[in-house]
Amino acid sequence: MRRSFVVAPLLVTLAFAACSKATGSDAGAAPQPKGPTLPAGVTPAMIALGDSLYNAGSCQRCHGQKGIGANNGPALVSSPWLHSTGKYEEIVAIITTGVPRTSIKDSARRFPMNPRGGPMNLNDDQVKAIAAYVWSISRDKK
Ligand code: HEC
Repeated sequence: MRRSFVVAPLLVTLAFAACSKATGSDAGAAPQPKGPTLPAGVTPAMIALGDSLYNAGSCQRCHGQKGIGANNGPALVSSPWLHSTGKYEEIVAIITTGVPRTSIKDSARRFPMNPRGGPMNLNDDQVKAIAAYVWSISRDKK
């Protein structure tokens, strides 16, 4: 008689353990990405490619290494946007068209920004990759 008092709670405990193990398998789901969700069409590989193109190419001569700003171009990591609201598509557009002298907002900037990185002569995929990189470093910009 006393034995069943011991066994019954044990069975209940085992049943619970089995259930929690079953639901626990959900814990294997993909972890949530950190930071803001990437815009449609942007991949981490594009951002990595854009990083090397930007920091080896002409962009950093005017906008500084990693977009911190320099004499001939505004910072891309801070300070307010001058030509867009910072959406990925807008950044693609501005790299494609450049900023002609007549559109420059800050009169301290002496040189226009040429379309497609000027001598870099970026193709569409390279423009998108650099735009993805600029988007990724500019999330604190307002
Ligand atoms: C010759 C210098 C120069 C080069 C090279 C250059 N830019 Fe620019 N960029 C500028 C100037 C000048 C502006 C406009 C600043 C203003 O209006 O006061 C600008 C504007 C921008 C903007 C818009 C910023 C805003 O606040 O809206 C982005 C984005 C940008 N450049 C990215 C790039 C990228 C990416 C490259 C390389 C492919 C590049 N630039 C190459 C000078 C340059």
